[in-house]
Amino acid sequence: MPKAIVDWKTITDFVTEVFVKYGVPEEEAKICTDVLLESDRRGIESHDVNRFKPIYLDRIKSGVQKAVTNYEIIKETPTTAVVDGHDGMGQVIGYRSMELAIRKAKEYGMGMVVARNSCHYGIAGYYTSMATRAGCIGMTGTNARPSVAPTWGTEGMFGTNPFTLGVPTDEPFDFNFDCATSITQNGKFEYYERIGEDVHPGTVIGEDGEPVTGDAGVALKRIRQNTAALVTVGGIGEALGGYKGYGFAMFVEFLSAVLSDGYFGKQLNGVDENGEKCSPRLGHFFIAIDTDHFLGEDICRRKAGDIIRAVRASRRMPGAERIYTAGEKEYEIRLARKDGVPINESVQGEINAVRAEVGLEGKYRFPWD
Ligand SMILES: NC(=O)c1ccc[n+]([C@@H]2O[C@H](COP(=O)([O-])OP(=O)(O)OC[C@H]3O[C@@H](n4cnc5c(N)ncnc54)[C@H](O)[C@@H]3O)[C@@H](O)[C@H]2O)c1
Repeated sequence: MPKAIVDWKTITDFVTEVFVKYGVPEEEAKICTDVLLESDRRGIESHDVNRFKPIYLDRIKSGVQKAVTNYEIIKETPTTAVVDGHDGMGQVIGYRSMELAIRKAKEYGMGMVVARNSCHYGIAGYYTSMATRAGCIGMTGTNARPSVAPTWGTEGMFGTNPFTLGVPTDEPFDFNFDCATSITQNGKFEYYERIGEDVHPGTVIGEDGEPVTGDAGVALKRIRQNTAALVTVGGIGEALGGYKGYGFAMFVEFLSAVLSDGYFGKQLNGVDENGEKCSPRLGHFFIAIDTDHFLGEDICRRKAGDIIRAVRASRRMPGAERIYTAGEKEYEIRLARKDGVPINESVQGEINAVRAEVGLEGKYRFPWD
């Protein structure tokens, strides 16, 4: 499928201006754009600009997500806070919550903020990078619409629940382990559907307990209809430790709902108790640990760098070119994408439609025009 490169300034200005036209205040629109396009900079195809229209604009338009975020702190101590996002923009809630956790960590050593009634906050790794840039170890996670089955189950009971961890290092990139607790997450299926790639065997289980194969779009529909479910990290059954991914997913589900008295599991189906369409009602958590409250940022960065360098230098599998550490591939893609973001044909069509809808045709030209 032909892709066109759009330079960073053009795509950043365009996405920000469209968010503003949809009612997001300008400062908050800049945050939403930065989180969204950070996926493009890191090469995370499942969460990049292809989600701009379907996940954010369409939800604002349908009224399930509010363009103006009422970020309300409903309880606060020196090291903790509970936030209600009132169905506002998940990226704004995520940004402000990690900012608050870091502020608390800088003062008291550790900070933790939990948020409820939020919407999709994008790539979890954006928020751990905020922490590591500030010299903190960072952790975050979010619950999500149920699509993942527990070990020995075939029904989607919890979301793809990323559990994301960041550690500052002395390398040009920090350690940033940013992924779902399911083998594959829904955004990747959306992406596979767009590019015509099949389901990877063992990543989806059908209601009959058999692995689902074939067309990714069909599998995605089955997951949404609850006749199939995603599989936790480790795989189907117990042989390869599927219960380990299951345990991590549950921990994320707990931290995303129990401390904030938020919604969980099937309550995140987008339908309320009366059967009416409702907001995503998601919960997130954000943890920052300040390295200066231990032996200091320099020592932490150097030691973490020593650890990842030792691992990367270890014996490789025959035929393997190198050993990576988390965050490394994304850093290399960022360097390779200096000139702009590659946009596939299907997203080009969506961008054209949005541009026409908000009356920006005279202002923004793209390489495919
Ligand atoms: N907001 C949500 O509801 C939600 C839900 C699920 C996932 N996500 C996001 O989706 C994105 C992608 O998730 P995913 O599960 O597809 O991630 P993935 O399976 O692509 O894994 C990415 C992580 O693995 C690391 N990695 C990749 N290859 C490696 C190797 N050979 N050695 C060491 N580390 C390696 C990367 O550096 C990165 O940290 C993440 O940003 C995640 O936060 C968001």
